[in-house]
Amino acid sequence: MKTIKELRDLEVKIRELKKKRNAVILAHNYQLPEVQDVADFHGDSLELSRRAAKTDAEVIVFCGVYFMAETASIICPERKIIMPDINAGCPMANMIKAEDVRRLKGEHPEAAVIGYVNTSAEVKAELDYCCTSTNAVAVVNALKDKKEIIFIPDKYLADYASRRAGRKLIAWKGFCPTHAKILPEDIKREKKFHPKAKVVAHPECLPEVLALSDEVLSTSLMCKFAKETPAKEIIVATEVGLIYRLKKDNPTKEFYPATEAAVCPNMKRTTQEKILWALEELKEEVRVSPEIRVRAKQAIDRMLEII
Ligand code: 13P
Ligand code: SF4
Repeated sequence: MKTIKELRDLEVKIRELKKKRNAVILAHNYQLPEVQDVADFHGDSLELSRRAAKTDAEVIVFCGVYFMAETASIICPERKIIMPDINAGCPMANMIKAEDVRRLKGEHPEAAVIGYVNTSAEVKAELDYCCTSTNAVAVVNALKDKKEIIFIPDKYLADYASRRAGRKLIAWKGFCPTHAKILPEDIKREKKFHPKAKVVAHPECLPEVLALSDEVLSTSLMCKFAKETPAKEIIVATEVGLIYRLKKDNPTKEFYPATEAAVCPNMKRTTQEKILWALEELKEEVRVSPEIRVRAKQAIDRMLEII
């Protein structure tokens, strides 16, 4: 554990070097408080990529997991994108490979393929459409003329989108090990403790958890909801890192994690020290080969045409 003085010194050094390098720091909503405190922008997976595309900075320090930095590189290949810890991966994204998608397409030649943004660039290159936790239902609804739809890799997001859109999907069996730790018993217990609280849940949660929730939202939409709702107490069914941002943005409201067990270890790999080293050495750079990038970008662009 670092002392407050050590953290302050690090923050000063990061800010100085950031200026010198003409860099911007983007942080996902699940990052450690010390990372969120030095970030220029916070957001969900897609928001961060869109921010990356808009910035004039030469260097983007991406604090999140690998597929997010890769997505930013697909959207804005002209920028230098570096990750303070290149080993921060997403176990759900690693549950499916490009060859698995090709096999599925071979088994269902008429099907359109939708893939969650939590996938590798190689997998995105095999998709017809990308989607995010915000727009999965809208993307499924936009494909009414398709006889079959393959949805990868998250079986729980697929189940949620399938129920909401009212149609069957051919789902891959992936899932988020962090969100799978949130159980219906957790929601029931917290509701008992805080009977006036609203419950918000991420669509990566188990269907039984979603059934007990008032709202199913992406991390950034949870932040928006927290600001706009008249409710003063909110039970949050997602990775615990979001609570820091929610409390900071809404000091007069109370936020309760559904369970403290919902920690994504990969999201916690990035620290202020690693950000400083990344800025000093301008490493590790995340790049996607042009051939994969062009195909992956088509799936993202098709999604953006829908929403
Ligand atoms: P969001 O896009 O909602 O931030 O979710 C990303 C993620 O990895 C959730 O586990
Ligand atoms: Fe991946 Fe789950 Fe971590 Fe999100 S919380 S990055 S889906 S493992």
